[in-house]
Amino acid sequence: MEMETPKRIMVVDDEEPFRKLLQRRFSKSSNRVEAFESSESALSAAEERDFDVALVDIKMPGMDGIELLRRLKEVHPNMEVIIITGQGTIDSAIAAMKIGAYDYVTKPCKLSELDLIVQKAYEKSNLQKENVLLKDQLKQRNPYDMIIGKSRKIREVITLINKVAPTSSPVLIEGESGTGKELMAHILHQKSSRSQGPFIVINCSALQENLLENELFGHEKGAFTGASSLKHGLFELADRGTFFIDEISEMNPNIQAKLLRVIELGEFRRVGGNKQIHVDVRILGATNRSLEEEVKRGRFREDLFYRLNVVTISLPPLRERKEDIPFLVDYLLKIKSIDGGWGKTVATEALECLKNYRWPGNIRELANVLERAIILSTENTITLKDFPLSLLEPNLKSSKAASTIVEVEKNLIEKTLQEWKGNKTRTAKILGISIRNLYRKIGKYGIATR
Ligand SMILES: Nc1ncnc2c1ncn2[C@@H]1O[C@H](COP(=O)(O)OP(=O)(O)OP(=O)(O)O)[C@@H](O)[C@H]1O
Ligand SMILES: [Mg+2]
Repeated sequence: MEMETPKRIMVVDDEEPFRKLLQRRFSKSSNRVEAFESSESALSAAEERDFDVALVDIKMPGMDGIELLRRLKEVHPNMEVIIITGQGTIDSAIAAMKIGAYDYVTKPCKLSELDLIVQKAYEKSNLQKENVLLKDQLKQRNPYDMIIGKSRKIREVITLINKVAPTSSPVLIEGESGTGKELMAHILHQKSSRSQGPFIVINCSALQENLLENELFGHEKGAFTGASSLKHGLFELADRGTFFIDEISEMNPNIQAKLLRVIELGEFRRVGGNKQIHVDVRILGATNRSLEEEVKRGRFREDLFYRLNVVTISLPPLRERKEDIPFLVDYLLKIKSIDGGWGKTVATEALECLKNYRWPGNIRELANVLERAIILSTENTITLKDFPLSLLEPNLKSSKAASTIVEVEKNLIEKTLQEWKGNKTRTAKILGISIRNLYRKIGKYGIATR
């Protein structure tokens, strides 16, 4: 269902009956229509507030419609101007098209035709405005996002990042999954004197030991069967830049030893080579387990740990900085709006629910929940029904919104059951809960099934 959004329309004509006619015609729904009898008064209004579309008569005493068009475009480049012309002024109307009028209509004109033109002009204007906003956002996102949050914990992180970024010291970034480790690594790079150099990422858990070694250090020609030519390692490519090693706890001890050498001496050998390769790289490592624990268990080299641990940035889980949730929601909605969530907001009880949830997947999970909600919500407001059940559940015990949530959950189960003609396996799957859990809820809410 397409909602009609209010248009802001300006009508400029010295002829009162025609002006009134247009004003009445377009004042339906919640449009804001303002009529002016001179270009001068129209212009001064445009300087004060935004309009989407202007309907402008060409021939007026004082400043004429063409000059007004020119001025309006200077003030609001994305406003669309439709020229209204009598039989005698068609030539100037065509000239107006050349300087950016959207279209022209001749008096007397069919109002239904005019409706259509205004609608089209409005759509064009809107699209342009959105594009400008989106471009601004893309600029902000790339390169590399901002750290959102005002909580004490996140402010401490920012302070630490600002202190350590300009140095070349290795940094260990700890935090649960989705807390922003990679984001912080990007920011450390951006704020360092190496920001013009490369930023290289490798994830240790994504590659098997041999492959990882081969990627990191490269190999000499003939180092092993199949090594038909020399391969440069990523460390070489990262020269004078930053090397971000994700899930560093998964790195195997043999590679750990080589990494320690890179950090301490800035040198390494390619696989199958004798030559020392010299590089100038800054190492950032990330882990979602305690490296200290890994050292105790003998899985991570102690000397490497101490070398990495000179500065450790510990990212707080989202549940420990809930006051940041509203800011993050705002920010994430803007980013996700690129895919169609334009202008959506979150209802109060829904925001309350987001604040009560534990967020095991932290900000990444929050981003996913919002993305899903943008898609599911039919109105411009995101409500509880747009969230997955797993999110509503923990709220049942604690929150003020509990009764609403129970209601929503019950409805959702009923609706889904109906939709799938009582098929419980299907319903459980769609709702993302186990079949046992579904039966429990059906019992609890007394939902009639067939
Ligand atoms: N403080 C923040 N402000 C804004 N966005 C953030 C913040 N922290 C994280 N994000 C966003 O959350 C998402 C997850 O962050 P990121 O990938 O850096 O997490 P991670 O800790 O590396 O996760 P994983 O351990 O799962 O790899 C990204 O889209 C990131 O931009
Ligand atoms: Mg990551």
